[in-house]
Amino acid sequence: MEALRGMSIAIDPQSRRLRLDPRDPVFTDDPYPAYAAIRAAAPAFFWEDYGFWCFAAHDDVSALLREKRFGRQILHLMSRERLGWPAPKRHLAPFDALERHSLLEMEPPGHTRLKNLINRAFVSRQAEKLAPRIASLARERIDALRGDGAAELIEAFATPIPVAIITDLLGVPRAMGPQLLNWSHRMVAMYQFGVTRDVEIAAAAAAQRFADFMRGYAKARRADLRDDLISQLLVAESEEGRLSEEELVTTCILLLNAGHEATVHAIGNAVRTILDRNLDPRALFADATTTAATVEELLRIDPPLHLFTRYALEDVEAYGVSLRQGDKIGLLLGAANRDPARFPDPDAFEPVRDPNPHVTFGAGLHFCVGAPLARLEMTIALPILFERLPGLRLAERPRCRDAYHFRGLEALRVAWD
Ligand code: HEM
Repeated sequence: MEALRGMSIAIDPQSRRLRLDPRDPVFTDDPYPAYAAIRAAAPAFFWEDYGFWCFAAHDDVSALLREKRFGRQILHLMSRERLGWPAPKRHLAPFDALERHSLLEMEPPGHTRLKNLINRAFVSRQAEKLAPRIASLARERIDALRGDGAAELIEAFATPIPVAIITDLLGVPRAMGPQLLNWSHRMVAMYQFGVTRDVEIAAAAAAQRFADFMRGYAKARRADLRDDLISQLLVAESEEGRLSEEELVTTCILLLNAGHEATVHAIGNAVRTILDRNLDPRALFADATTTAATVEELLRIDPPLHLFTRYALEDVEAYGVSLRQGDKIGLLLGAANRDPARFPDPDAFEPVRDPNPHVTFGAGLHFCVGAPLARLEMTIALPILFERLPGLRLAERPRCRDAYHFRGLEALRVAWD
């Protein structure tokens, strides 16, 4: 094992095998030096700790996200027996039931039907309607703490805005926010490396309660349609064959979870990037054009989600690897975003990059439904934060959550003048 800035990492360029514990705190604290070393040694490599091939080069990741020979799902083509998978765990049944109907885990044609429906519902919630609400929320949060001179921004700023916006958008009472956060955190813990039985049990219980709540709430709202997303989904549900009740419940849960988990940390990571690098917020957010470019570069340089997987839907000989149908692969978004072959001087913060083809929101079929919303939230909330708290600075070195592949901060303590 070689030590890279104190982390234990072994990469053999010949066999292209990597040993690196994704829970290594040095790695989760700053994965980018490891990505650079891995990409240089072997852009396609077998990550032994995960047990599958992974890709770190931008061109590969970007192409694989769009590749029709790879999908999020494999059970429509191969049985568990053929895949060599154990039987589903009984204690995970409520969690698995939600996954089965999740847009994120579906393939065409079911995926196409559901995605069109959600996209249409999203497009109709125009940005013009949301922008003033995001701005007033951001101002409210800052005014509540302005006199304190110091704060922890993940809890005080980065979390409440996306949670309030997604509950409003969907049409779920804002007061449910803390409860939704609790369920959501337990459920997304399932996507981390090295899931324990306790994590599984907590996730299944949260999935059960969340689904029960959503089912009850949807039932109540069938007779109370309003100008919100759940009403549009309920209308679709009432039209034969467009949306089943299970899909409705799962979609609401997916949107509520996805609607804040990543955005909270995109905002936290963005503030940290600006403060850590002593960037000048007045120049970054001088006008709409610089603000848009700044947000894209913030999303590129430290994205909140680093790893997504795909299955080979057929045997594939490409990208320097030989895969059998059913093999899983890992796409390293955070590594792709720092590939020098695509982004010259990749560790430098350069909002002038144009184009800035980062893969923070994925690409292809499963491209993020919420990307316009997440961009809007950052575009509005970040300038307000820096404008209203002049002299904003880090009060201590921010701590990262020990949770690869969700890259976010445990705490972001700041002070201002
Ligand atoms: C900065 C914040 C966000 C990031 C970095 C992010 C990232 C991603 C990525 C990488 C994917 C693709 C996953 C894959 O290819 O396997 C995805 C999918 C998705 N995201 Fe986001 N997301 C963010 C915010 C949101 C928001 C605000 C919402 C909802 C309001 C949302 C809803 C979804 C949904 C529903 C999918 C599944 C799309 C599909 O499978 O077709 N995301 N997101």
